[in-house]
Amino acid sequence: MTLFLIGYMGSGKSLIGQKLAEVLGYDYIDFDDYISQQEGLSISDIFKTKGEIYFRKAEYKYLQNVLNLNDTLVSLGGGTPCYGNNMQSLLDVDSSMTIYLKASIPTLTGRLFDERSQRPLIAHLESKAELSEFIGKHLFERAPFYEQASMTISTNGKGVDQIIEEILLQLY
Ligand code: S3P
Repeated sequence: MTLFLIGYMGSGKSLIGQKLAEVLGYDYIDFDDYISQQEGLSISDIFKTKGEIYFRKAEYKYLQNVLNLNDTLVSLGGGTPCYGNNMQSLLDVDSSMTIYLKASIPTLTGRLFDERSQRPLIAHLESKAELSEFIGKHLFERAPFYEQASMTISTNGKGVDQIIEEILLQLY
């Protein structure tokens, strides 16, 4: 089985993904790290020096490399399912599950505010109010992609262990 974790930035894809892979004895791939390694640049530097369109093309290209890996969990970037036919490609993988980690706008705002300098799409936002407004609009555009996932887990107010337990209950 191949598992894909999807969801907005700050939804916990990396943290939950690493732990869940460990519990399942799966290989783990953080897709942002994978792109970064392949390109020899941090995600911020790819955006800065090559631009977002280049990043989206790279994301599409490298996604093909991680679609059919058995017993592997891939935590995708927040935008990965929302460009090209990426979401459909994820859904088409045999013996796979796409898991949407769903979080509310206030939860995401709280988690992302202090970390925003690492994330090129939100690094320029100066106040929590601006960030919250940005996330609200962006999530509205992206939700139709995320909502196609085979499993949706609401993460608000839940700890990592509880989220993992809920995913395991739905998987088996
Ligand atoms: C992005 C999310 C980031 C990274 C890039 C773009 C997005 O990944 O891929 O900065 O478009 O939402 P995380 O969701 O892991 O932060």
